[in-house]
Formats: sequence, structure tokens, C-alpha cells
Amino acid sequence: MRISVIGCGYVGLVTGACLAEAGHEVVCTDINTERIAQLNAGGVPIYEEHLGEILASARKSGKISYTANIGDAIRSGDAIFICVGTPPKDSGEADLSAIDHVARQIAAEAQSSKLVVEKSTVPARTGLELSRALKAYSRGDARKFRVASNPEFLREGTAVYDFFHPDRIVVGVEDVSTAEELREIYRPILERKFHCPVHQGACPPAAKAEFLVTTINSAELIKHASNSFLALKISYANVIADLCERIGADVEEVTHAMGLDPRIGTQFLKAGLGFGGFCFPKDVQAFIHLSATVGVDFEILKATERVNKQRIERFLEKIHKALWVVKGKRIAVLGLAFKANTDDIRFAPALDVVKKLLDEGAVLHASDPEAIAGTRKLFPQIEYHDDPYETLRNADAALVCTEWDIFKKMDWDRAGKLMARKLVIDGRNLYSPKHMRELGFEYYSFGRE
Ligand code: UGA
Repeated sequence: MRISVIGCGYVGLVTGACLAEAGHEVVCTDINTERIAQLNAGGVPIYEEHLGEILASARKSGKISYTANIGDAIRSGDAIFICVGTPPKDSGEADLSAIDHVARQIAAEAQSSKLVVEKSTVPARTGLELSRALKAYSRGDARKFRVASNPEFLREGTAVYDFFHPDRIVVGVEDVSTAEELREIYRPILERKFHCPVHQGACPPAAKAEFLVTTINSAELIKHASNSFLALKISYANVIADLCERIGADVEEVTHAMGLDPRIGTQFLKAGLGFGGFCFPKDVQAFIHLSATVGVDFEILKATERVNKQRIERFLEKIHKALWVVKGKRIAVLGLAFKANTDDIRFAPALDVVKKLLDEGAVLHASDPEAIAGTRKLFPQIEYHDDPYETLRNADAALVCTEWDIFKKMDWDRAGKLMARKLVIDGRNLYSPKHMRELGFEYYSFGRE
């Protein structure tokens, strides 16, 4: 099929590239003309594992193209995937102005019938508004458009893997034929007929993805309910960590044992600095807001958000307790991205920590495998090092803020010899407290003695 993708961010670019790899003809567009120029020149504007390879192969086979002209993109696709941003407003409500803008452009530019797929994360009932806008701006010719919600469940860092190995594909539709159109688009994925860049075309046998057909409202709700539940799980683990500290227990032991119950599961019970990124914080806020507008008080989700914000304060308390005076201290920050394997620093807990420490007069040195360039623009006063060991040279303390593998594998014996004081405050529980103490470190983490 011919597919247009509007928005070349994390979601749009991965969706476009993977659909091209699955055999469709894809045209991508974005209002950021620099980004389009970069893509046209063969560049990859974001760091996402395997994305570069599939963009290059789709480019070679002519399956993907980029245009800054949204009208051309709209006219060329049978299906249009809306992948624009839905950032939070100050009130927490999702800002849907980009969706509205795109809807009006689709209505104005489309010359034939289109399937309009909402891929961006949006609050329930956005699809209804999208249909209404398409109808209003196409002067009542609603037959031109079929609207669907097709939420994505891609994790940054493993988005390409997730796209090709989904556990479920959710399509919210108004009629059966629209569901069938979407099934056709996803057929190569459902039948596992694609060249998987992750496993070089030889994926291990896996359970088939469920293709779930729902109403549009349900599909939209599924996305917010899923992300919010995972966020809630993380905050739950973080409160358990606080309890462990008070009681004298080990959060890793507790959450591991909890997770072995299949009803609970081991994932997303990792205590530490809490969740960040452009999905969980904004989705939790938007879900709370949506619930309030329909008269449902989502108390547990408010607590989830509150607990997450407190993680930064708890981390700073640990830093103050260990370092006493922060002003003038040389502090090494290991990790800036909101999680490992991404260059994304949006709502990154590390940056909240960094900002507070700079305000207090700390001298910061930082390292991150992918997020230095982005952070440098926000905090030029920090000294950045590609080599984490250089970051630690003469440091009074090391803070671990992101769970990158390279930090997990650090040789702390070597690092300790470079530091002015052997102090590590670990916001991601990466190391064994016993081992760190044996190496002569003062070591603090979350929920462990
Ligand atoms: C999340 C969801 O996992 C995806 O399914 C969803 O599609 C995506 O949002 C989205 O809405 O687009 P992502 O934001 O890439 O994906 O990140 P996660 O891997 O879910 O991690 C989120 C945050 O939680 C990170 O800051 C991570 O460090 C933190 N986290 C995760 C914990 O603090 N503890 C854990 O146990 C797990």
C-alpha cells in the first residue's frame, strides 16, 4: 500500500521506516524542513538502534521518500498515519493543536478517499474530534475519510525490534472494512514476512501478535491505560524502596520475589530515580486530566506522579547527606538520557538533578554515550566527556542517573583511583553495595543498605 506518515519524530520515523521494510511505499513529511533535508541527504536525525540500517535499505529500494510539502504527502498515500507530537500543557492536558492542524490540512489537500490513522498518543475521544474536523473542513464530504486509532507500544531504544515483534496490534475503528485495511497494512508483520534487521531475517519463533479490533475510544484508552499502569508499577516499586530503607530490607530481593508471581511479573519494578521521557510523564498527566473532565478522580495515578517527582528530592537528599556542602564540589554525572539506549533527554530525571545541583553551585562533569549533544545545548556550563573515566577524574562524587550498559560494566577499582573521594550515589541501583564497599567506596542507592 501507499502510506503517508506525517511527523518524523521517534514514532513517525520508526513507523515509516518499518512499514517500508515490510514492503509498503512510504512518504514521510514534517514541518521541520531541516529534518527533511537531513533525511533526504541520507542522515538519521535520531538515535534508535537499527533505524539507520532500515532507512538506508528502504532508500536504496525506493520504498521511502521524504518531502517538506505536506500536500504532496497527503495526496500520495492511501493511508495517512498521523505521528505528530501531543505535548502536555501547563494543566497536564494534552495539547492537540498539531493533530487539529494536520486534520485541517488533510481535509484541504486530499483529493481522494483516505484512511486517516491516529498513531500519536491522544486522550480518548480524540478520534471523534478528528472525524468531526475532517468532515467540517472537507465541507461535509465525510465519505472521503475513514478514521482509525492505532496506538503504538514502541519503547525508545528498542522501537524497531518492538515494531517487528509486537505482542498486540490494536486498531480502533468505526467499521469492519477499515479494520481489514489495517490488517492488510500489518499483514507482513502478522505473518512475519519481512526482513528483520534485528535478527537478520531469521527471527526466533515467537507467539503471534494479537490483532485486536476495538472501538476508537477503547483503542485510545488502551494506550493511556497501559502506559499509566506501567508508571504506577514503577512508583509502587519506589515506595517499596523507601520502606526497605526505613525497615532495613533490600528492594531488589523484595521486587524480584514479588515479580516471580506471574500475576505481578518482574518487569517495571526497578526502583531508582523514577520514570522520565516523553511518554510516561505526559501520558500520566493527560490521563489524570481526561479522567477529571469526565468526573472520575484518578487518585492512584495522582499518587504515581507525586511519588515519581519525589524521587528527585530523595536523590538530592542522599547527595546532601553524603557530600554535606555541594557548592564548589566537583560532581561527575554518569548518564543524561531518560533511560539507556536513547539520546532522548525529554523529561529526563538526570536533568532535574543537574539543574538543582548547578543552582547550588556544584561544578559538574558529565558523560553519556548518546545524549551529550542535546544536553550541551541546555547546560553549556557543564564539562562533557565521552570517556566516563575522564568524567570521574578528581570528582568528589559520582552520580549514576541512567542505566547504560557501559556504566554497569565500569571498572570501579580503576575509577576509584581517579576520584578525589570514593563516593558513588547510584540512582539506578546498578551495583552491589557489598562489592562497592569492598572496593572502599561510600556507596548509596535506593532501597538497599
Ligand atoms: C514507554 C512504553 O514502555 C511503551 O510501550 C510506549 O509505547 C511508549 O512509552 C510510548 O508511549 O510511546 P519509553 O518511554 O520508551 O516507552 O520508555 P520505557 O522503557 O517504558 O521507560 C520509561 C521510564 O521508566 C524510563 O525513564 C525508565 O528509566 C523508567 N523505568 C522503567 C524505571 O524507573 N523502572 C523500571 O522498572 C522501568
